[in-house]
Amino acid sequence: MTGATHARRVFSGVQPTGGLTLGNYLGAVKRFVAIQEDEAWETLYCIVDLHAITASWPGREGMRRATREMAAAFIACGLDPARSILFNQSQVPAHAELAWIFNCVARMGWLNRMTQFKEKAGKDREAASVGLFAYPNLMAADILVYHATHVPVGEDQKQHLELARDIAQKFNNDFDAPDFFPLPEPMIEGAATRVMSLRDGTKKMSKSDPSDMSRINLTDDADTIALKIRKAKTDPDPLPDSPEGLEGRPEARNLVNIYAALADRSPAEVLAEFAGQPFSAFKPRLAELTVATITPISARMRELLAGPEEIDRILSEGAARAAAIAGPILARTHEIIGFIRSR
Ligand code: AMP
Ligand code: TRP
Repeated sequence: MTGATHARRVFSGVQPTGGLTLGNYLGAVKRFVAIQEDEAWETLYCIVDLHAITASWPGREGMRRATREMAAAFIACGLDPARSILFNQSQVPAHAELAWIFNCVARMGWLNRMTQFKEKAGKDREAASVGLFAYPNLMAADILVYHATHVPVGEDQKQHLELARDIAQKFNNDFDAPDFFPLPEPMIEGAATRVMSLRDGTKKMSKSDPSDMSRINLTDDADTIALKIRKAKTDPDPLPDSPEGLEGRPEARNLVNIYAALADRSPAEVLAEFAGQPFSAFKPRLAELTVATITPISARMRELLAGPEEIDRILSEGAARAAAIAGPILARTHEIIGFIRSR
């Protein structure tokens, strides 16, 4: 009845929390850029500012700064606002409107199982915002309001993506609209879907880790990057000759994965080159490669941030293009439910 046709459309979102890490770059942004290069895909990338206030508020100016920084980071990493639609979420009201409908589709039990909520809410769940609890519904709306079919994310977002599929399916069933919302596919690929902390190979590299030595920031200078890699935790053994040899060596695996992702090679290829060598030989090469990747990005970011009006203009333009896609899909959603609307 709904006659939906789904192009290959990619959507992904990143919170404007300021300070992108190498994990965000390799796990998300670098892949966003690679997908954009393929003409077969239509790409939408969103700075999810509505999600960013679910846990805390960085202040009015902090909010603006973080949003512009994220936009600058995207562009500096190679995202082309002419080819991809780059915008901030709050400028397209359709996200929040569809999220309300999804609040009425998703079940409490589903959301209660979300591990990210449990982690972020901590011990005192009563004090968590309702927005933090309903966060995955808004995320589902972000994706489905465009009928997006593919969602590149890091490993940590897999559970939210499964929930988005459940919501799409339940909406289609409950409102008698078979196939209206596509079931979005996660794209969790590459050597760096989970970049780990440089201090603890079992913990994710995160901008919220109290130790700055645990992560590489896109704004770190060459000396800082070299120091962090030199001090990165490893074990005393030399590098193995195949990925199986990384079993039980999380820190070694992490550094090899980072190298592979930066060099666009597989971990096996990297090990073929470094087999038998000590970390004292591998680390300087990794540092060189990291610096060569990050230095031009941070330089470009600084240039872009010197002209915030231009960034704001890009975001508004992206929002207008996004709204043009979301509008008709939201209108059809209203018709499917039976909300009366003027024509
Ligand atoms: P966040 O900074 O948590 O909002 O994440 C933004 C994007 O970066 C998401 O797609 C995450 O899955 C991805 N991401 C964050 N940290 C890492 C990491 N350590 N390794 C790989 N991907 C990550
Ligand atoms: N929840 C995602 C994260 O924390 C960010 C996000 C919001 C997102 N909406 C999305 C990712 C839609 C992919 C698609 O990383």
